[in-house]
Parts: sequence; C-alpha cells; structure tokens
Amino acid sequence: MSEVSVTKDAGGSAPATDELVVLEGVNKHFGALHVLQDIDLTISRGEVVVVIGPSGSGKSTLCRTINRLETVDSGHISIDGRPLPQEGKELARLRSDVGMVFQSFNLFAHKTVLENVTLGQVKVRKTDKQEAEGKARTLLDRVGVGNQADKYPAQLSGGQQQRVAIARALAMDPKVMLFDEPTSALDPEMINEVLEVMQQLARDGMTMVVVTHEMGFARSAANRVVFMADGRIVEESAPEQFFSNPRSDRAKDFLSKILHH
Ligand SMILES: Nc1ncnc2c1ncn2[C@@H]1O[C@H](COP(=O)(O)OP(=O)(O)O)[C@@H](O)[C@H]1O
Ligand SMILES: [Mg+2]
Repeated sequence: MSEVSVTKDAGGSAPATDELVVLEGVNKHFGALHVLQDIDLTISRGEVVVVIGPSGSGKSTLCRTINRLETVDSGHISIDGRPLPQEGKELARLRSDVGMVFQSFNLFAHKTVLENVTLGQVKVRKTDKQEAEGKARTLLDRVGVGNQADKYPAQLSGGQQQRVAIARALAMDPKVMLFDEPTSALDPEMINEVLEVMQQLARDGMTMVVVTHEMGFARSAANRVVFMADGRIVEESAPEQFFSNPRSDRAKDFLSKILHH
C-alpha cells in the first residue's frame, strides 16, 4: 500500500516493523450515525499522510480514535505493534506516544509557554525538571518562539500559540504526530509559519497524520493523500496522482470546490 519509508536518524537499530499505526476494520457510530466505516489504514514509520475530505466525513474522529480520545465499536488499532491500551498508565503513555495538535491551540492558559512545554515531560515522562526545561527551550527555539518562553499563551499570536502546541507535543518524544486542521483557526498571514514548522518535522522524518485543506502542504510534504467521504476512505494515492488524476467522483467534486478559489 505505502511505498514510502523515510529513514529516521542514523545509528538506531532497524525497527521491528515498518508499520507504525495500523487500523483494521475500524467502525464507529455516534448513535445512528456511522462515522467510521470499515477503515483500514496503515501508516509506516516516517510517513506523512494527509487526510482530506468534506466537513463531517469523519477526519477528526479518525484522528481521535488513534489516541483513544474516542473508543471504536469494532476493529483493531495498534501503534508500533501494540494494541491501544484501554486505560490507566498505559493509556497515558500512549497519549504521549501520539502527539496531537488541534485546530484550537489547547494550551494551559494559566501556565507560561515554558511551563506548557515542561509539564508533561515531568508528569508523564518523569523527566527531571531542569532537564525538561532545557529540552523545552530547545524545542521552543526550534519552532521559532524561544524568546516567548516566559509569556502566557494569551500574549502570543495564534501562529505562535500553535507552534508552542507543536513544541509541547514534541517534548514527549512522540512516535507519531496527529494534526487536526492545525491552521484552520489562524489568520492567513500566520498559516505559513506553522506549515513551515510542520514541513521541517516531515523532513526530519517524523511520522505524521495531517488533516488539512492546505493543498500546497499536501503536495510538498505528503507521501500519501487519504480522501475520506461519509466515514469511508474513498481513495488514497500519492499527492501528484491524487491532485492531477482523482479517480472517484467524490474526490473530483471535492477538489473542484476547494481548488478553484
Ligand atoms: N461526539 C459526537 N457526538 C455525535 N456526533 C458526532 C460527535 N463527533 C462528531 N460527530 C459527527 O460525526 C460526523 C463526523 O465528524 P468529524 O469526525 O468531526 O468530521 P470531520 O472532521 O471530517 O469534519 C459528523 O457528522 C459529526 O457531526
Ligand atoms: Mg474535523
């Protein structure tokens, strides 16, 4: 299915498997609504998958099942060869293995930027506070907000807050990062600064699932585009193939609506 596997940092031993996130026969209902229908999706280590599709097609729910913010009715999900844990410590660890960045930035309003990026490391990863702060500062520098460390989220622009949210997720050394429309709530002039951070992450070999309507990002960073409609994966292919030659009518219709303005 996926032909691409980007090699991570040199030096590590070969991973046991190249398949990092595997969904098999996943179904999910909200009452009578069948929001995820027989989803099969395998994401390889280092792969960047962009998920697109009309509003209400199940993209967010798909992301949320991967870190078990939503349970599924049937089917299996595994991360790095292990089924998703049900609860407790194991679940907390899973949540930190799967970094998530939402449309709304979800930073802790009453903590400074530095505290936002330090907290999870200390609480979940049990990292020593000083070490955690050092790492937080390195990551904040990497996403270009190192000079904002002592401010509170409300004092930052939306683009800066979203970059802090990315740094916070990265601080947990996640195996995979999920982005659910990370630039949709941003003013237009701030979209690129966030996309650039994501581009760099992709180049560094991070495994990423990105729900976005930013087609430029999909074209340049994605290994694969997954197109969803009505709770199903209707089509998946390499970006060039998908954008130049969509196969399904649903995808053609969707692309004609978003690409012509
Ligand atoms: N917690 C919920 N309870 C009931 N319905 C929901 C809930 N979350 C999402 N839905 C519905 O499930 C469908 C898929 O939603 P969602 O995954 O958010 O789609 P997308 O992200 O593609 O816009 C939509 O019809 C939405 O209204
Ligand atoms: Mg959504």
